[in-house]
Amino acid sequence: MVNLSMHIIGTGAAVPKRVITNEDITKVGDTSDEWITSRTGIKERRMLSGEALQDLAKDAAREALDAANIAAADLDLIIVATFTPTNFTPNTACYLKSTMGAGKAVAFDINSACSGFAYSLWVAQSIMAVHGYKNALIIGADALSIVTNWDDRSTFVLFGDGAGAAVLCGEDEASRGEILASTVHNFDDEGHSLFVTGINNGTPFYKPGTSEKSIVTMDGKTVFRFATVVCVDIMRELAEKAKVTLDEVSYFVLHQANGRIIDHVAGKLKLPIERFFKNVDKYGNTSAASVPIALHQMMQECRPKTGELVMLAAFGGGLTAGGAVFRV
Ligand code: ACO
Repeated sequence: MVNLSMHIIGTGAAVPKRVITNEDITKVGDTSDEWITSRTGIKERRMLSGEALQDLAKDAAREALDAANIAAADLDLIIVATFTPTNFTPNTACYLKSTMGAGKAVAFDINSACSGFAYSLWVAQSIMAVHGYKNALIIGADALSIVTNWDDRSTFVLFGDGAGAAVLCGEDEASRGEILASTVHNFDDEGHSLFVTGINNGTPFYKPGTSEKSIVTMDGKTVFRFATVVCVDIMRELAEKAKVTLDEVSYFVLHQANGRIIDHVAGKLKLPIERFFKNVDKYGNTSAASVPIALHQMMQECRPKTGELVMLAAFGGGLTAGGAVFRV
């Protein structure tokens, strides 16, 4: 059986309890609430302090499954997008499968940095279509606080931790949430503008230096330029593929990396900024979790009506980018 239509039928989100305000961040290094707010729009973010990221992923997953009215046992597929997993093995998707009772699901993680949720949607759609799977759970979960370079003020102000989830249904008869188009793209990061080195614990024969710690390095200006260009391209591509105009889209949910990037994109496309959902002020850049957390919050707060269009767009390390458009 091949599923031709795919639907988003439930969303969920979970963030750590601990709120880290800009005031808290000023105690780490030479920065200010005024600089962070005016350059990024971020006022606070959440950071793990005792919780495990995989348990946040589970909380987000439970909420999405409840909203979709689907039991974990009915899931055919679980994909978690993360590059900061609690454990490398078992991976986060396997952890969810075994602890949520998703007995028959195929489960695996992917890493596409901040574009991870868009990639997980695209991969899930493809697998569901080929194998005739009915129900999939896709999750974006990241804890960039654990790979932050706390000596680099241009990046330590930006990141937060969290998880967001969505349930995809491949049943032709599902009437809500039909995905009209999705896309992903890769670009060579020749200038190493966004980098998180892998782990290197050393061996009895070689001790890595401190500079080899697994931390974020970013050329903010280059990533900013990439983000504004690629988001515009992706949004135009999605509209064309879905045979809709951007004017017809009620809500745009972009990667919440920096409020100014979202403002730029809205300005370039001459679209009203009110249609761009923003929660970067509360959560900062939560990487793969950013789009699904924002999507969930947008669905709860804005309550789009049946038939309205929602567009998602993300960009991140790799360099990667992707998005989707669906009809509520
Ligand atoms: N507090 C105070 N001053 C600062 C800080 C800080 N935290 N950080 C930098 N500055 C200073 C700089 O030293 C510089 O000072 P100077 O003019 O005296 O040299 C000045 O502020 C301007 O610095 P810029 O780097 O030019 O600041 P910019 O306006 O470009 O903002 C930022 C930096 C916020 C990082 C921006 O470039 C950005 O958001 N880039 C995109 C990042 C992004 O989207 N990442 C997403 C992907 S993340 C992922 O996939 C894991």
